[in-house]
Amino acid sequence: MVKVTVCGAAGGIGQPLSLLLKLNPKIDELSLFDVVNVPGVGADLSHICSNSSTSSHLPSSREDKSALAESLKGSDLVIIPAGVPRKPGMTRDDLFNINASIVRDLAQGIAENAPKAFVLIISNPVNSTVPIVAETLKKNGVYNPQRLFGVTTLDIVRANTFISQKYAKETKATDFNINVIGGHSGETIVPLYSIGNSKSYYDKLSEEDKKALINRVQFGGDEVVKAKDGAGSATLSMAYAGYKLAESILKALTSKGEEVVECTFLNLDDSIKGAAEAKKLVKNLDFFSLPVRLGANGIEEVKYDILNNISADEKKLLEVAIEQLSGNIDKGVAFIKK
Ligand code: NAI
Repeated sequence: MVKVTVCGAAGGIGQPLSLLLKLNPKIDELSLFDVVNVPGVGADLSHICSNSSTSSHLPSSREDKSALAESLKGSDLVIIPAGVPRKPGMTRDDLFNINASIVRDLAQGIAENAPKAFVLIISNPVNSTVPIVAETLKKNGVYNPQRLFGVTTLDIVRANTFISQKYAKETKATDFNINVIGGHSGETIVPLYSIGNSKSYYDKLSEEDKKALINRVQFGGDEVVKAKDGAGSATLSMAYAGYKLAESILKALTSKGEEVVECTFLNLDDSIKGAAEAKKLVKNLDFFSLPVRLGANGIEEVKYDILNNISADEKKLLEVAIEQLSGNIDKGVAFIKK
């Protein structure tokens, strides 16, 4: 029996993400939690004739912790797209003040009710919210770094789409699976077009076009924020991306020999194979996004070797990312430790 809980299920991301999860035959129970509107979303989804049952959980007051506890109990996987999204002119970091405490409280609920669940963090700023969850779980003595994932998949999705748009006659977005490493905001996002089948296409671009493509991946979210004109940030593409990572994690749980690899923002904890090697290559940062091999225990291995194979230009991008990430990570850790 697989139970998946979405915290923030009535939101712009939460609703389409829950719809996609509802269609996954590997999921037996879909549990929806939000502080508003979730009974309606749950009733709507519950009419879909797929494999899973649906339950919705709405707290009766700010003090009511039972709805969250009920939604989380027995969960194998918890996905968190709860919190406020950006408006035009805002950076992801501007969301910290509101989202940090929302994510902390949800992590506390996970520690108490689903301490073994795989936890996927979508709420921004991911570079800080993931350390917040790690510290909260540590404080409760239930932390397993193999089970914590910062969702950066949308950056990979964008990187695939944007290069294919440059070669629309010859390629499709599905031809690519670009590794995007670093973090999930602006210049901390480092797409590695020089690795794999994108290299030959990327190399053909002018220096100016290469720069514009990298910039578009790093700031692609702004295109959506601007087009939505005050009504939020990416929700549908994000739901797809979050679902893609969740689907891979579920697939890896039962995979017989097939290697499942995804990029994720993870804690480079010594207990994970390859994490110590990765850490040395990123100036000792505790958190970083890299491709990881998934398995029955979550993150089984960090594919750190990719850092030894990047181009000189990508090395420069990496320097900038590392510099910025350090402050973002410290901010998250300090929020819990203070
Ligand atoms: P939204 O405002 O449409 O939905 C957020 C939902 O969270 C709302 O339904 C709200 O009621 C709920 N919520 C607020 N406090 C809560 C709490 N304490 N417990 C449970 N639910 C709570 O926002 P949207 O567009 O769905 O974005 C959500 C988050 O995802 C934002 O922080 C946004 O920046 C982030 N995001 C992350 C991306 C990524 O690539 N990782 C991409 C796009 C957005």
